[in-house]
Amino acid sequence: MNRTFTIIKPDSMRAGVEGKIIDILLSRGFRIAAMRATRLSEQKAGEFYAIHKEKPFFGELMEYMTSGQVIVAVLERDDAVAELRRTVGATNPQKAEPGTIRAMFGTDVTMNAIHASDSDENAKIEAAHFFSEEDYCL
Ligand code: RTP
Ligand code: MG
Repeated sequence: MNRTFTIIKPDSMRAGVEGKIIDILLSRGFRIAAMRATRLSEQKAGEFYAIHKEKPFFGELMEYMTSGQVIVAVLERDDAVAELRRTVGATNPQKAEPGTIRAMFGTDVTMNAIHASDSDENAKIEAAHFFSEEDYCL
């Protein structure tokens, strides 16, 4: 059993598909260890996506990620990081495999419905932005 971290992004919340996305995650065997709705401040979003600070799309990414509510969650299952990346699909929804969350709910390469950690190490760091160990249902 291991953990990953996800954000259901503002476009999904605006479209009202967060329940459908959570259903897909549960159907793929993920257990919710911690979950809450929040809105990212400019500072929080900047810290979270600090790795992309020099990218040309950073400004657009900040505007998008702070544009409305999100759901942040820690998910558990075996091989959690790789399985969530598979479930989420490619960054660009137009290139995402049919049946993936981004293929179903993403709009474009910026507004792509959901975030998924890309390594065990980053999952831990990202989850710590929002949760402490005592928040997890064990
Ligand atoms: P994420 O971190 O959100 O799970 O997405 P990812 O690994 O698939 O993609 P990443 O390269 O980490 O990019 C982070 C987020 O930035 C936005 N993006 N926009 N306009 C663009 O070319 C572009 N590229 C990336 C997306 O919201 C992407 O998920
Ligand atoms: Mg990423």
